[in-house]
Amino acid sequence: MNTLGISSGFHDAAATVLDRYGNILFAAHSERYSKQKNDADISLDLLNEIDMSRVDTIAYYERPWLKQLRRVYSGEGVEWNKVTTQQILEQQLGCARIRGKKIKNYSHHLSHAAAGFQTSQFDRATVVVIDAIGEWDTVSIWGAEYVDHRARYTKLWSQKYPHSIGLFYSAITQKIGLKPNEDEYITMGLAAYGKDAVSMAMRNRIVGHEYNITFKQNLHVGLHDEYFNIFHDADMAASAQAVTEDLILNIMTRARKFGWSKNLVYMGGVALNCTANARIGNYFDDIWIMPCPGDAGSSLGAAALAYGHRVNWTDAFLGHNIPGAYPVTDALDRLVTDRIVGVASGRAEFGPRALGNRSLLADPRGQDIKDRVNAIKQRQEFRPFAPVILEELADQYFNMPRGWERSRYMQSVAYCRRPDLFPAIVHADGTSRVQTVTKNGSGIRELLERWYVYSGCPMLLNTSLNVKGEPMVNDRKDADRFERLYGVKVVS
Ligand SMILES: [Fe+2]
Repeated sequence: MNTLGISSGFHDAAATVLDRYGNILFAAHSERYSKQKNDADISLDLLNEIDMSRVDTIAYYERPWLKQLRRVYSGEGVEWNKVTTQQILEQQLGCARIRGKKIKNYSHHLSHAAAGFQTSQFDRATVVVIDAIGEWDTVSIWGAEYVDHRARYTKLWSQKYPHSIGLFYSAITQKIGLKPNEDEYITMGLAAYGKDAVSMAMRNRIVGHEYNITFKQNLHVGLHDEYFNIFHDADMAASAQAVTEDLILNIMTRARKFGWSKNLVYMGGVALNCTANARIGNYFDDIWIMPCPGDAGSSLGAAALAYGHRVNWTDAFLGHNIPGAYPVTDALDRLVTDRIVGVASGRAEFGPRALGNRSLLADPRGQDIKDRVNAIKQRQEFRPFAPVILEELADQYFNMPRGWERSRYMQSVAYCRRPDLFPAIVHADGTSRVQTVTKNGSGIRELLERWYVYSGCPMLLNTSLNVKGEPMVNDRKDADRFERLYGVKVVS
């Protein structure tokens, strides 16, 4: 029988199905089905992909009553209809789907930790979780190991609400006019255009203790300090990024000092900050960030905890399936003739990055391609696109940071060695968010190899295939709609 893991109720709801051998049968985001970006509730269309008759255990990613206690403390008030896991699952899945199933729940940060450790190759690891807010913990450090093949976690240190790096970053995101809990990646992109001119003021007025990760204000209610009104958005973003990186590195220093393991598993929404990630390789020998480190990934974490053992991780292609072989020849033909092509093939990515199965791919060379892709994506022009490259050639084109010589899930930035040749994939600060593809026989690998033979260029521009303001394309119908709206061929 299978275990169903659920994360829902705050943002980016998701579900994961694990079988009794630890294989991930399915993992997907609700938003891809409901078309509501960051949908907090589990969509019925997603549930229809899951055979509930094969599920005997449902695992929820946090402890609802503990979260409600925190809500009382923070003055938000109790949500009486969300006090027990049973209540929440009845609302999210319907009574009929949960009848007769074993129901389990796990703490928010432990679910993050398990989603990372149990999908890693490590037998023993130091686990760091940094996010905005779950129940109480906002930062936690764990010692993880297998004892008689069962995963065991020892909590080594934690910081609690309202002291939160995630809430700090979200408060700055809101202060510069963006949407908190959603647009943090835009703040990170904007940072490259600003000067680190406000970080001293942020350290003095907002941060309490930089090593213990405390803050002088409760940033959950936003940053209400008029002193910061006079600064440019980009300078605010750059300064917040600088402060955030220092705080993260302080946590890594603390984590390392426990001496538990030189392998790092890093999880939580803050682990999506790929600029900060570039610096953590100096603290540990080996790093694993599960490609869906935020709350959606905790659906896998909760299921992994119920399962108890190492999970068989192969790749992030775990969602809805568009059947058929990867359209290598069709995609290559389009790249040769149009320099741009959409691909919607195989199983959708679990996690926020398109890694080749729901991607808009383009020839990254020359000056004009960025404008062409931007015209399609209709997004802020300052945001760069990412490159996907043959792994063995990555070092020739990018100065890959320590610990990120393989960057298979686009989780770190690296300085581009030839920004003059590839302006479309290089950010204002000279970095690129690199995805490397190993010789794994995947469709995107074969496409890159053939593109290299044809063009002499071992990389492509890779951005997610989505209609503006909508989540990533999920099924073939979405792909057809994309094609109609933007006039770009999407091959399957
Ligand atoms: Fe979280």
